[in-house]
Amino acid sequence: PMRQRLLVVANRLPVSAVRRGEDSWYLEVSAGGLVSALLGVKDVDARWIGWAGVNVPDEVGQRALTKALAEKRCIPVFLDEEIAHQYYNGYCNNILWPLFHYLGLPQEDRLATTRSFQSQFDAYKRANKMFADVVNKHYQEGDVVWCHDYHLMFLPKCLKEYNSKMKVGWFLHTPFPSSEIHRTLPSRSELLRSVLAADLVGFHTYDYARHFVSACTRILGLEGTPEGVEDQGKLTRVAAFPIGIDSDRFKRALELPAVKEHINELTHRFAGRKVMLGVDRLDMIKGIPQKILAFEKFLEENPLWCDKVVLLQIAVPTRTDVPEYQKLTSQVHEIVGRINGRFGTLTAVPIHHLDRSLDFHALCALYAITGSSSFVAYCCEKVSHLIMFAGAAQSLGAGALLVNPWNITEVAASIGYALNMSSDEREKRHRHNYAHVTTHTAQDWAETFVSELNDTVVEAQLRT
Ligand code: G6P
Repeated sequence: PMRQRLLVVANRLPVSAVRRGEDSWYLEVSAGGLVSALLGVKDVDARWIGWAGVNVPDEVGQRALTKALAEKRCIPVFLDEEIAHQYYNGYCNNILWPLFHYLGLPQEDRLATTRSFQSQFDAYKRANKMFADVVNKHYQEGDVVWCHDYHLMFLPKCLKEYNSKMKVGWFLHTPFPSSEIHRTLPSRSELLRSVLAADLVGFHTYDYARHFVSACTRILGLEGTPEGVEDQGKLTRVAAFPIGIDSDRFKRALELPAVKEHINELTHRFAGRKVMLGVDRLDMIKGIPQKILAFEKFLEENPLWCDKVVLLQIAVPTRTDVPEYQKLTSQVHEIVGRINGRFGTLTAVPIHHLDRSLDFHALCALYAITGSSSFVAYCCEKVSHLIMFAGAAQSLGAGALLVNPWNITEVAASIGYALNMSSDEREKRHRHNYAHVTTHTAQDWAETFVSELNDTVVEAQLRT
């Protein structure tokens, strides 16, 4: 039998493209756990549709890039520079992202934002329509179309308008906020209605699913049921699908000679010091300043630890054209500089801060030296030495130290607790986390969503 085709639609393709000449491109595939999970769903033939992240105004370049991407099972959506700016920097990352994370709109330009809102929302809809056109062009009967994230909330509606039989799922990779927050968006109703056009709508946690359903009941006046949201007899199924990591990939990497050698080097370099590790995109929601300030407080209160502990913070630059991210970068640099000036010696500083990404093998070596917890830490970008700020906290509950990131005193105390933890306790927590991440993988997540989407469509047909 023919395998079912899966079209994964996301703002960003899992490939970065660098132009080498008029018709030649260099492609680097990002081999993250999410990517291998989505492209590797059992019994499914998957393709990826998304924006290549570069502006390609000319047809020769577009044709060459399309051809090169096809080999990686990717299909590009070309957005012109102005639309990409208004849609991606503007509506997605200056409006939806902060709002969904309860950060509100950028403070001093609230009015300016209100004014530019309409044109950004128009660009957002236009961009979503361009994604829909590409999906529609490649769609074949029976395909499953899985739309991803806050960039593409308008897509389910566009797709169903093209073809009401298309099986459409949408999954949000961020929190969905309380309806009290969502209602402050000028486009609150339109966004909800377009998402509701999907057959299945998924969230990371049960709370986010519940927030979405109550936004639909309170703002749109629809009926919420245990299954989802009902509008004049039509049900949109809403459910929680907690994500995981590709744990085997970490296990395999730790066996490689190059990684083992790297671990040896690092162990040698940091001999006599405990290493704390933070790996985050340099984003407001990651709580990097809060974490570093808590570390400063810990050093202040525990001067004997000053030359016995080091915090390695890998801060991967992201969305660098958005002013809020530029502000955050300078803010973090200022705090790190102050703390290193204050607690550093001629030969050592307490914080090593890197504004860049590291390759997967270098990261694995770092996870390995920061304790037996190695890849458990990777489960969430928001952890530091298994002190968890958010996100995966609900799943890893019993294995990690949970903190309130806004309470610097509490985080500083947890740093102390983690550094002084007995090896027995560490082992026990590690076993708990290990069992969790190896049994709740990214592959399981992707397979569950796709089979649930197929089932949802069958059930809907039975009802009519
Ligand atoms: C978050 C979002 C993703 C996004 C990623 C990187 O995890 O949920 O959709 O791809 O950040 O951000 P960027 O803006 O570089 O795609």
